[in-house]
Amino acid sequence: MKTIVFDSLSKWIAFRKKFRRGKIGFVPTMGALHQGHVSLVERSRFENPITVVSIFVNPTQFNDPNDLKNYPRTFKGDYELLKAAGADFLIYPKYDEIYADGYKFRVSENHLSGILCGASRPGHFEGVLTVVMKLFNLVGPTRAYFGEKDYQQFLLIKEMVDSFFMNIQVVPCPIIREENGLAMSSRNERLSAEGREKAGLFFKELSSGKELKEIRKNLEENGFKVDYIEEFFGRRLGAVFLENVRLIDNVPA
Ligand code: PAF
Repeated sequence: MKTIVFDSLSKWIAFRKKFRRGKIGFVPTMGALHQGHVSLVERSRFENPITVVSIFVNPTQFNDPNDLKNYPRTFKGDYELLKAAGADFLIYPKYDEIYADGYKFRVSENHLSGILCGASRPGHFEGVLTVVMKLFNLVGPTRAYFGEKDYQQFLLIKEMVDSFFMNIQVVPCPIIREENGLAMSSRNERLSAEGREKAGLFFKELSSGKELKEIRKNLEENGFKVDYIEEFFGRRLGAVFLENVRLIDNVPA
């Protein structure tokens, strides 16, 4: 089966009208796809007759210009993965189409978005919520799928949908891990082979049941720079830097 690509929003909008009454599963992504994304597409295919994926590296959610510059862009490989996973449609919009308003209009939240990742990444969740709102309006999904690795993101999107009475089911999906426990992430590509191996310790420590400050200390002693290790929402959540790459993860507390 072929995945049909729309690299222009106007073509997508015209096409989308045909599916007015069909149920659509939606997987928004920033590309550099891996097995975690594939699991979201598979779940969507199982639960909906049509699956739409978007790839858009959203500049407004990057508080660090270097992070945006270094974010992996692997469209060809992504396309092959989506085709093999059976996605029906891929939308691949350009910045000027998504932000035709110049980012004048935004969705902001003033509570949960200020802690954890939001505390060290000002503006990050505003960018995420704004782009997700735009993508939801463009796709009109029945269900939308998000990995639990970005747990705070999932909670904020779910709350946004509830607060704005959007008729969309936000579906959290389990974290897919590499063999050493490292949560799959597009950013893992930026680690050296040695760093990738070492990064498994992050999950091991987070799920060890030790005290939070002991986990922090063990990670720091092993060369990680710790942003936070905290307990919220019945989970243990952490963000660390290894080889200047920001990694996040969480496990049930
Ligand atoms: O999780 C991501 O990949 C992004 O934050 C999302 C939800 C696609 C918005 O740009």
